[in-house]
Amino acid sequence: MPDISTTYMGLHLKSPIIVASSGLTNSLDDIKKAEAAGAGAVVLKSLFEEEIITEMDRQLSKMHSENYLYPETMDFYENYDVEDTLTGYLKLINDVKHETKIPVIASVNCITSHNWPYFAKSLEDAGADALELNISVSPDDIDQLSTDYEATYFDIIKEVLKEVKIPVAIKISHYFSNLGGMIKKLSETGISGLVLFNRFYSPDIDTDNLEVVPTHIFSEEKEYVMPLRWIAITSDKVKCDLSATTGIHDSKTIIKMILAGASTVQLASSLYKNGVETIERYNREIESWMTKKEFDSIDQFKGMLSQSKLTNPAGYFRLQFMKQFSNK
Ligand SMILES: Cc1cc2nc3c(=O)[nH]c(=O)nc-3n(C[C@H](O)[C@H](O)[C@H](O)COP(=O)(O)O)c2cc1C
Repeated sequence: MPDISTTYMGLHLKSPIIVASSGLTNSLDDIKKAEAAGAGAVVLKSLFEEEIITEMDRQLSKMHSENYLYPETMDFYENYDVEDTLTGYLKLINDVKHETKIPVIASVNCITSHNWPYFAKSLEDAGADALELNISVSPDDIDQLSTDYEATYFDIIKEVLKEVKIPVAIKISHYFSNLGGMIKKLSETGISGLVLFNRFYSPDIDTDNLEVVPTHIFSEEKEYVMPLRWIAITSDKVKCDLSATTGIHDSKTIIKMILAGASTVQLASSLYKNGVETIERYNREIESWMTKKEFDSIDQFKGMLSQSKLTNPAGYFRLQFMKQFSNK
């Protein structure tokens, strides 16, 4: 039987399939289901920077007013029986660590490096095996320089790495003017993983009611080609592990991502549609493909089709449609 276990950010995972940060990882019961289905790890639903700051301010003023100021956030977790968002999140990590064996990656949705990184230590203290930062900086102010947007990423990483010893991953979108260069530079900051790519909210227009409406909460299968291409181009040039997300809806696409050089994949939409139990089938299908191809371990084929391993590496760089397609 081939071995589908893998290493991601220094963590040993039984399977390369991670349940992506979403409503599927928001409760102990759901995380137990993911573990039973054979997921390699879970990324918890993100805490939002705004939630952390608001809640910390509220708690601090409460402690001040009671002359009971503890410097460490964990202390108020232990001393206050308040079921707010933050304590609930820390409790979830704690419970999952006590009741399951699945590696737990805490997640923070952040936009600045101000004030909140101090809280990252609490996630580590609660038992999180790693931290994923979903950096939601959307470059939609057209008067802003791309270098200013990029600087935010490096500031956040620097501040968080000061606080924690657990491995840190950054989840990014593809909205960069020099995407490959940015992926490489981010990988050299001391982070352990890069998650490519997050999907941002995509607005649409309702022509009947003449209004802007949200749409496409779930990805479509064809969307996997964007992360596949950039993982293939960058996987053997980066200094951290890569995890693929967006548009991964079957075991074949999981295998493609690993062939391109991903260590793991993060799934949400296909699990919402088909149930978390589907992970079990995906794992068996990866095993039977490995048996057919005579691979004993994930490492034997990871990155086998990355851009630099190809005899004709132009395949991943081609941007224009070739003549035979443009006539259609
Ligand atoms: C309902 C829903 C909630 C999500 N919530 C989060 C979140 O809190 N934090 C985050 O980093 N990503 C979140 N995501 C993004 C997923 O983690 C994932 O990266 C993205 O959906 C692409 O994977 P997919 O194509 O398998 O859906 C969410 C996705 C969905 C569908």
